[in-house]
Amino acid sequence: MTQKILSGDQSMWRATVLTLFPGIFPGPLGISLAGRALAAGIWALEARDIRNAATDKHRSVDDTPAGGGPGMVLRADVLAAAIDAADATPDRPRLVMSPRGRPLTQSRIAELASGPGPLVICGRFEGIDQRVIEARGLEEVSIGDYVLSGGEIAAMALIDACVRLLPGVMGKLESGTEESFSAGLLEYPQYTRPQSFEGQPIPEILLSGDHARVAAWRRAEAEALTRNRRPDLWQTYANQKAPKNQTDG
Ligand code: ADE
Repeated sequence: MTQKILSGDQSMWRATVLTLFPGIFPGPLGISLAGRALAAGIWALEARDIRNAATDKHRSVDDTPAGGGPGMVLRADVLAAAIDAADATPDRPRLVMSPRGRPLTQSRIAELASGPGPLVICGRFEGIDQRVIEARGLEEVSIGDYVLSGGEIAAMALIDACVRLLPGVMGKLESGTEESFSAGLLEYPQYTRPQSFEGQPIPEILLSGDHARVAAWRRAEAEALTRNRRPDLWQTYANQKAPKNQTDG
C-alpha cells in the first residue's frame, strides 16, 4: 500500500521514497529538527511501496541474477513502473542508494536541498537491474564504504542532511555556517560548563572574551583535526587556500 506521510503543495521541497518497506518512514525524520519542519509543512515526505508496481499474482518484485550468483535482483520492469507512477516531473533528481554509488558530499546535499527535492530509490537484495538505472537516468549514491542491508537508512541520512538546510528549518542558534565541511574543514572542539570536568579545564583562550583569538584558535584546531583525520579533505582545503602552485609562477 502506498503510504503518504505528508503531502504539501507542489512548490514545497519534497522527498519521494520508493521502498519495499514504506512503514519504516518517517522514522527518525519524524522527530526533532526534521520532524518539526515536516509537521510545520516546510517539506513533504512521500514513501511509496515498490510492490504496488508488481503485475503478477504473487506481486513479485525481484528475481534471480542473470548469469547466476547469490541473492535476488530488483526487476527493471517493476521498478521502472514504480518510478513512472511516482514521478511526473522530469527535472527532479532521481537517486538510487547503493554502496557502489558516488560518495555523498555536503556540496551535493546543498544542491539537492536547493532544488525541488529528489526521488530516492531504496535498493534491497543484490541490487537492481542495470537497464533501469540507464533507462531512467538514475544517479547512484553511497553514504560510505560499508554495506547496509538496504537503502532505507541511507535515504534517511540523505534526506535529513538536506532538510536541515531548507530555509526556516535551522534557527540562528543551530545555524550551519560554522559546522563541519562548510569551509571544507572538520569542526573545531566544543566545550561548555562545568569549567572543570574530571580535572580537565576548558581551554583558557575560550574564556578570554577575545573573539579574534578564539576564532584563530578554532581555525587552528579545525585545521589540525582535518589534517590528522581526513588527509583527503585536507588536500582539497590546502589546494583551495593556496591555489597558486609551482606551475603558475
Ligand atoms: N545500501 C547499502 N549500503 C549502502 C551504502 N553504503 N550507501 C548507500 N546505500 C546503501
